Amino acid sequence: MSPVRIRTLQSTDAEALLAFEMDNREWFERFIDARDAAFYTVLGVTDHITAYLSGFTAGTWHPFVLEDVDGKIVGRANLKGIDMSERSAEVGYRIAQSACGRGLATLAVRHLIQEAQLHWNLKQLVANVYAGNMGSAKVLERCGFLIEPLSRQETTEHEYRFDLSI
Ligand SMILES: CC(C)(COP(=O)(O)OP(=O)(O)OC[C@H]1O[C@@H](n2cnc3c(N)ncnc32)[C@H](O)[C@@H]1OP(=O)(O)O)[C@@H](O)C(=O)NCCC(=O)NCCS
Repeated sequence: MSPVRIRTLQSTDAEALLAFEMDNREWFERFIDARDAAFYTVLGVTDHITAYLSGFTAGTWHPFVLEDVDGKIVGRANLKGIDMSERSAEVGYRIAQSACGRGLATLAVRHLIQEAQLHWNLKQLVANVYAGNMGSAKVLERCGFLIEPLSRQETTEHEYRFDLSI
């Protein structure tokens, strides 16, 4: 496998990010909520990046991309809804269909845990996974997340919550 690096999203990523999202739109929509059609334009993605980077500046969001040696984006990973008083955040990630099965999501989630700890000093991470997304559940369990007991699940029966105490 060619090396992949993980770095913070930047304002110059619009073109590469649009290509990644468009190439994998149908793949992602099998597992996670669809985005608005307006997202899939240069303007839509530029606005999206601006919003994510504002969140980064405000300390509520840390967006990362996984980039191959050619500068192609092959995955994304985010710390979302960072709450400094609760010292918690949610993790989110998506990997290009062509790059799946090589451990990239595991690499990305481990990176999120490390950043949550070292950069943000968080103590709790959560993830929400739709039932049937066995690959995602496997990644989380491999990274130490535990599925919340059904009695404590706040979400619908189609979605499960995973937790990690750091
Ligand atoms: C889920 C996803 C992130 C996994 O990415 P990935 O880079 O392939 O993940 P990894 O290679 O680190 O690990 C996936 C593991 O799940 C396994 N797996 C994948 N699909 C599976 C399935 N249907 N049933 C059981 N195991 C499965 C893989 O074999 C692999 O395990 P292994 O390393 O022991 O072989 C990727 O498929 C994706 O982006 N899906 C669409 C978006 C999404 O679902 N995001 C997560 C939202 S919670």
